[in-house]
Amino acid sequence: MDEIKINLSEKEMPQAWYNVLPDLPEQLPPPLDPRTGKPAEPEVLRAIFPDGLIKQEMSSDRWIEIPEEVQSIYRMWRPTPLHRAIRLEKALKTPARIYFKNESVSPPGSHKPNTAVAQAYYNKKEGVKRLCTETGAGQWGSALAFACNLFGLECVVYMVRVSYEQKPYRRILMQTWNATIYASPSQHTEYGRKIFKENPDTPGSLGIAISEAIEDTVSKKDSKYSLGSVLNHVLLHQTIMGLETKKQLEIVGEKPDIFIGCVGGGSNFAGLVLPFIDDKIKGKSNVDFIGVEPTACPTMTKGPYRYDFGDSSGLTPLLKMLTLGHDFIPSGIHAGGLRYHGLSPILSLLINKKLIRAEAVPQTKAFESAILFARTEGFLPAPETSHAIKVVIDEAKKCAETGEEKCIVFSFSGHGHFDLSSYDAYLQGKLQDYEYPDEEIRKSLENLPKI
Ligand SMILES: Cc1ncc(COP(=O)(O)O)c(C=O)c1O
Repeated sequence: MDEIKINLSEKEMPQAWYNVLPDLPEQLPPPLDPRTGKPAEPEVLRAIFPDGLIKQEMSSDRWIEIPEEVQSIYRMWRPTPLHRAIRLEKALKTPARIYFKNESVSPPGSHKPNTAVAQAYYNKKEGVKRLCTETGAGQWGSALAFACNLFGLECVVYMVRVSYEQKPYRRILMQTWNATIYASPSQHTEYGRKIFKENPDTPGSLGIAISEAIEDTVSKKDSKYSLGSVLNHVLLHQTIMGLETKKQLEIVGEKPDIFIGCVGGGSNFAGLVLPFIDDKIKGKSNVDFIGVEPTACPTMTKGPYRYDFGDSSGLTPLLKMLTLGHDFIPSGIHAGGLRYHGLSPILSLLINKKLIRAEAVPQTKAFESAILFARTEGFLPAPETSHAIKVVIDEAKKCAETGEEKCIVFSFSGHGHFDLSSYDAYLQGKLQDYEYPDEEIRKSLENLPKI
């Protein structure tokens, strides 16, 4: 009988992260200082990040050792299992073999602590006392709260208002791990008060919450800012997912044809696929890498590749990325972690070079797929993860039609135990789909910085 769960021992856990920067098909366009339009000096980043992470952000070393303190925390739940989704395959009557990397087994329930723990470690090492961040769905906020608590750091989280209201249990989890939570836009920052005054009914957005977290960071001593996606160092920390997966696939003698992951800022998808992409860059493989986003926030499928701010108020350096415009406010869909206007510069470059492709799916189709997955495989996916599952099912059905025995691997980025109100809304037929109107996207793109 085929193995259905491939585990690695603690000793087999990778001891270095993989840095894709030296292997990219061309140099990544640098972050720019919005005041000068020139590459941002490290000083600009130093106001909000510790040196250890800035170094990683720009490093040309292919392998970066994982500090023992970080490894020892990783071992609380890593290596994570790679499952074969045999029951889902049977339900779909597909000859495809489907595997999923289960990141939901971490204490906060997603892939996010892979970077939260590393970020808390480097900040602590440099004497930082307090970390500020934003969170969409609450997964990233809980991961940082978990990590800060282990390192004895104070943690302040600006949580996008719509998620704060949809997911009270995520807030309680963060508070249990000692964090302070504000619904964003909040009354705690000048930017939050301004947005609130202009539009008291706003659902908030990740861009606004990032602006608030940065404003809070720079206004207090010994504080730094922490980002849960998008940046190079975040993707670097997440490569532990793909590196483990590589070893696990070798154990069962599999060579994947398709990789799939949901994409907000891009960290879980990149964490899974970057360790496999070098062969495709060098023309040695033709693996299909598919990033999946919601139709309500179509950054990859409709956003141009341009320099833009990472936040709404224009506090961050400019990043060259696929973007819907920094003041784009997506509708309040239930996959809060996929409501971001921009995308990791690394993934943006790879999509632009056609090494990765993207699909957009509506949320009701994502939930329909999540329910089939839960009924066959048992695990309850996060709404974000469900977007990936929809495309996994589509690809497996194509194999059922053509008879192709493809190997599909996807990132099970998190569980949905705190998202049951969204499942409830779906089961009661109350969920709606949103396709962001092209006209609104065009308007929002008018405000892109003129670089
Ligand atoms: C479970 C889960 N998956 C995916 C994402 C999307 O983020 P990223 O694209 O950085 O992996 C989030 C973000 O909050 C998440 O909570």
